[in-house]
Amino acid sequence: MTETPSLRLVEITDDNFDAAVKVEVREDQNRFVAPVLYSLAQAYTNRGTAWPRLLMDGDEAVGFLMVKFDPEEEDPDFRAEIWRLNIGEKQQGRGYGRFAVEAAVEEARRRGFGRITVSWVPGEGSPEAFYLGMGFHKTGRVEDGEVIGELLLG
Ligand SMILES: CC(C)(COP(=O)(O)OP(=O)(O)OC[C@H]1O[C@@H](n2cnc3c(N)ncnc32)[C@H](O)[C@@H]1OP(=O)(O)O)[C@@H](O)C(=O)NCCC(=O)NCCS
Repeated sequence: MTETPSLRLVEITDDNFDAAVKVEVREDQNRFVAPVLYSLAQAYTNRGTAWPRLLMDGDEAVGFLMVKFDPEEEDPDFRAEIWRLNIGEKQQGRGYGRFAVEAAVEEARRRGFGRITVSWVPGEGSPEAFYLGMGFHKTGRVEDGEVIGELLLG
């Protein structure tokens, strides 16, 4: 039997759906990210391009990641894009966000993308410093009030 690594991204199924929607950020962070339930509804309506995953540490659901992969997208800023990242309120600051971003980067590379983007709401409590610390650079573009950052995948 192969050993299951403790920290991993898994597909969301009927079996872990309840655990997934229970991943909640701090209340004051709700203005930076949509609830998991909303993202999963969007994953349904974007079945061809959404890549939703639950971040598990052992038996515990600690976070949610959704990436959009669409090589056909006209706008290059939205071809490989971290769409949502929610780390549970009590699980933040333990390296889970970093793991999720690295996993998104790895999946983008695997699919042959040379670049991955993310957009964030700026301001107090924003994830901006987190993404800049992860190596993203601001593109200079702001769309609907959200700053677009990019990471080139060498
Ligand atoms: C932003 C978020 C994803 C970060 O996840 P996390 O698991 O708490 O972050 P990690 O523990 O992996 O931190 C990785 C690094 O980023 C730093 N970091 C994390 N959050 C940060 C913040 N808000 N500001 C500055 N640095 C931050 C950590 O100090 C750590 O640095 P180190 O590796 O040098 O020690 C998480 O706090 C979250 O879900 N926030 C609410 C929702 C949100 O804003 N999502 C993003 C939507 S675009």
